[in-house]
Amino acid sequence: MTAATAPTLPADLVAGLRRLKLAAMRQLAPELLVTAKTQRWTPEEVLRALVEAEVAARDASNERARLKAAGFPVLKTIEEFDLAASSIPAPTWAYLTSLEWIGARENLALIGPAGTGKSHTLIALGHAAAIAGHRVKYLTAAEAVETLYRGLADNTVGKTIEALLRYDLILLDEVGFAPLDDTGAQLLFRLVAAAYERRALGVASHWSFEDWGRFLPEHTTAVSMLDRLLHHATTVVTSGQSYRMRHARTRQGGEAPSS
Ligand SMILES: Nc1ncnc2c1ncn2[C@@H]1O[C@H](COP(=O)(O)OP(=O)(O)O)[C@@H](O)[C@H]1O
Ligand SMILES: [Mg+2]
Repeated sequence: MTAATAPTLPADLVAGLRRLKLAAMRQLAPELLVTAKTQRWTPEEVLRALVEAEVAARDASNERARLKAAGFPVLKTIEEFDLAASSIPAPTWAYLTSLEWIGARENLALIGPAGTGKSHTLIALGHAAAIAGHRVKYLTAAEAVETLYRGLADNTVGKTIEALLRYDLILLDEVGFAPLDDTGAQLLFRLVAAAYERRALGVASHWSFEDWGRFLPEHTTAVSMLDRLLHHATTVVTSGQSYRMRHARTRQGGEAPSS
């Protein structure tokens, strides 16, 4: 249909659809009504086409909003993850990618050295969860602590934690990357304790659990935090050579890894 012959809706309908924020219907209706007439659609078919268009547009826009709110630093997907190249057992991966654990408010703890796919896994699962309709937030532990620290200044730590708990899945990456002072550790503990059995938490750290005392100044904080974190959790130990290094080496034409 050319612009010259493009039908227009009556002004009152346009105004009504605008007021009801039914943008997709408003855009689609003029042409759809012409098609409906020439193809002799039933009234129900017309209504269905309009409603479906609005629902699809709404879903797409909500998905975009959830992905934006998640704050992923890069885009990583489940499809891009080479399971065979990782140490994650296939049944564990199947469970994690089913996303069931999110609805069940269970946790995920990824432990392993640099370059073994921890962040990729967190982000890919978060991305899939956001697309599936979950509210997801990704932040590094340092960012989380910094956010909570700001709350300390004006006595809004509780509020800040509640704001984070509005997400169904909170992903804390790089836990232990920077050492925490007493206050930082207490703040992180408050977040983990508040999320316990209420929200799904995904964490990644290059420190094995025995070593969490190295970045958490108080031994008891480490113990209490791990207690909450691991009570209902899938623990994944990622191991092997750094995926980054392996690829760098293969690109340079050096020896490809034997495994
Ligand atoms: N099994 C894998 N399949 C595909 N890409 C991977 C895999 N493991 C790691 N990578 C890639 O290697 C790089 C480093 O992985 P990353 O998840 O950042 O490691 P970590 O967080 O454990 O340090 C990223 O670009 C990531 O996408
Ligand atoms: Mg990482």
